Amino acid sequence: MDQALRNAADEFLIRFGGDKFDNLFTRAIGSVVVDDTGREILDFTSGQMCSTIGHNHPAIVEAMAEAGRTAVHMFSGMIPEAVARLGKTLAEEWLPAPLQKSLFVNTGSESNEAALRIAKLHTGGYEVLALGGSWHGVTAGASSASFASDRKGYGPGVPGVYLLPEPNSYRPLFPEMTPEDSALAGLELGLKMFDMQSRGGPAAIIIEPVISAGGILVPPKRFMQALRKAADERGMLLIFDEAQTAFGRIGEPFGATHFGVTPDIMTVSKTLGGGLPLAATVTSAAIEQSAHEKGFTYYTSHVADPLPALVGLAVLETIQTERLIERAREMGAYLRAQLDELQQRHEAVGDVRGLGLLLGVELVTDRHSKTPNHRLGALTTNRCFELGLSMNIRRRPERGAVWRIAPPLTVSRDEIDRAIAILDQALIESVDALSRSAA
Ligand SMILES: Cc1ncc(COP(=O)(O)O)c(C=O)c1O
Repeated sequence: MDQALRNAADEFLIRFGGDKFDNLFTRAIGSVVVDDTGREILDFTSGQMCSTIGHNHPAIVEAMAEAGRTAVHMFSGMIPEAVARLGKTLAEEWLPAPLQKSLFVNTGSESNEAALRIAKLHTGGYEVLALGGSWHGVTAGASSASFASDRKGYGPGVPGVYLLPEPNSYRPLFPEMTPEDSALAGLELGLKMFDMQSRGGPAAIIIEPVISAGGILVPPKRFMQALRKAADERGMLLIFDEAQTAFGRIGEPFGATHFGVTPDIMTVSKTLGGGLPLAATVTSAAIEQSAHEKGFTYYTSHVADPLPALVGLAVLETIQTERLIERAREMGAYLRAQLDELQQRHEAVGDVRGLGLLLGVELVTDRHSKTPNHRLGALTTNRCFELGLSMNIRRRPERGAVWRIAPPLTVSRDEIDRAIAILDQALIESVDALSRSAA
């Protein structure tokens, strides 16, 4: 461990929010990251939810080497062969029809920025509906349509964004109704409010198929169908932000496949690059044609770069050859069963939810009041890290204390067993420490 380097991280880096560890990190392989003391830690967030095929998969390493032998970057107007191949692979092997055309960018924020621009140009409108608890990124358009956190202090957002109540089956907006009816009633209310407020420029509805930063909220299927209908009735485009749900994490190729609802635009990012900055905005040939005719531009220094495209191709091929979608379903069911079993034994585990290997565990003070237990969340997360397990906790007061658990799809049963044993021990010790401090 190099203390001077640890100090340098504090002295020379701008703090960018979120949780930060005191340690520095040196390596990442499979489901494990290694810190500057040489300690191995199970990475149950797949980095920033990106490394679905495991850290530093040989296929990714080889794709980067191939880019080194051929080309890393080019003039944006020179489309590299690898980019054409990635567009074709997505259209022919992955995307639900009529989605067919891709724009390759770097981050999820950018893919949503481009999606919103296409929707505005295509419809001629500017009004955007987004869900409570959603997170679409940090750029102007994407952050204006994000409601999970971090809205305050930066002045006005992009005008024309309206909020729809998010479906929450653990805490339904209308508790006297079933969670599904409550979600639909919330949507109806939100749409009524929007219709009253609209200045007549509807453009898009944007939603994550699983509202992740908002606490791993899985909308009912009827909610998604109603959203599709609401978009069509208003001449709006439906955008699915599949940053976390695309390419197998939820045990299906996409959220769209899970819900049986096809959006007009889909954005994919984290899970396409497997850890490298690669994202795509995807739409139909008809919408692409319309946007093009209206002068669509999204010209950046790294639009259509060959290096990330080669990596994206390697990621997609690995998901197929290693049958990782089936694996996500199988390992997701295994992990879920273990978490359900933990819930039986720990009063503080209020809810276990999610799809495939994108799971949420909500901690509460007691199951009756469902009050989020932030202190327990923080203590347990820290103790898990000490014991060798990294997980991500949402600890915004308004969003509950929810662990987001999303290991690589390559995770083994043994790694899941180790993680569960750590979680169990951390929960027992943390509950105990809290009750001792209260006594
Ligand atoms: C659903 C979703 N959309 C968009 C983003 C933004 O992606 P990026 O951080 O790559 O800009 C994120 C990132 O957490 C996300 O979870």
